Amino acid sequence: MSGGGAGPAVVPADLRVAVLGGTGPQGRGLARRFAAAGVHVILGSRTAQRAQLVAADLRELTGGPVGGADNVTAAAECDVVLVVVPWDGHADLLRELAPALAGKVVVDCVNPLGFDKQGAFALDVPEGSATQQAAAILTESTVVGAFHNVSAVLLDATEPLETDVLVLGDDREATELVQALADTIDGVRGVYGGRLRNARQVEALTANLISINRRYKAHSGIRVSDV
Ligand SMILES: NC(=O)c1ccc[n+]([C@@H]2O[C@H](COP(=O)([O-])OP(=O)(O)OC[C@H]3O[C@@H](n4cnc5c(N)ncnc54)[C@H](OP(=O)(O)O)[C@@H]3O)[C@@H](O)[C@H]2O)c1
Repeated sequence: MSGGGAGPAVVPADLRVAVLGGTGPQGRGLARRFAAAGVHVILGSRTAQRAQLVAADLRELTGGPVGGADNVTAAAECDVVLVVVPWDGHADLLRELAPALAGKVVVDCVNPLGFDKQGAFALDVPEGSATQQAAAILTESTVVGAFHNVSAVLLDATEPLETDVLVLGDDREATELVQALADTIDGVRGVYGGRLRNARQVEALTANLISINRRYKAHSGIRVSDV
């Protein structure tokens, strides 16, 4: 495993990570990278068969431990659960899964964005951010925000990513675990990015990155200096 983040935590060898929405480009890309690093992953989907098909593909690509299941089963079987679904389905999915997510570290990766002729823009969220909405719904879980600014295209590849991942949360043990998880991805460094109340601008920053990508034909990400 590679990386070099500031968090002292390491990913336990028996850690199981669920990726809800793991059949989409972002979830698949994250799962691919974790599996390549030897982290045990279970993809979640609204349809178990769809998750199993993507899991078989990722097993072949990485040789790593990847399974597929429906979202509830994936959540129930794992210690850390990434939420990588569209903003539209976010609240409904979390309400449905709240019992299965109790006691787990839930990593929200969702960017509440709108798109129009001018490109992407940040949506107003009553709770402040998608991550805070997750925390409001999942009162029995430890919610962390991360992986908002990482390109799906770069994730679903083999080259090192050369980017930082901001990890936000109010529980230090959980943010350090997620920093360590980010560190397992080749070229990625997990950096603590502040408390949940500061997740909004990290999620919104993705709209700026999408503008950068369009102008420069790039897959931009972020790097934090002097850390
Ligand atoms: N794409 C990127 O480069 C990127 C970068 C950073 C962050 N993100 C964030 O990552 C999240 C996923 O992005 P994506 O591009 O992978 O999205 P996506 O392809 O639109 O959706 C991912 C998966 O979510 C499931 N899904 C779709 N609608 C749903 C609903 N209403 N309720 C529950 N599950 C639903 C689908 O899986 P099943 O049909 O199998 O259930 C789908 O394959 C978004 O919130 C996005 O803001 C994306």
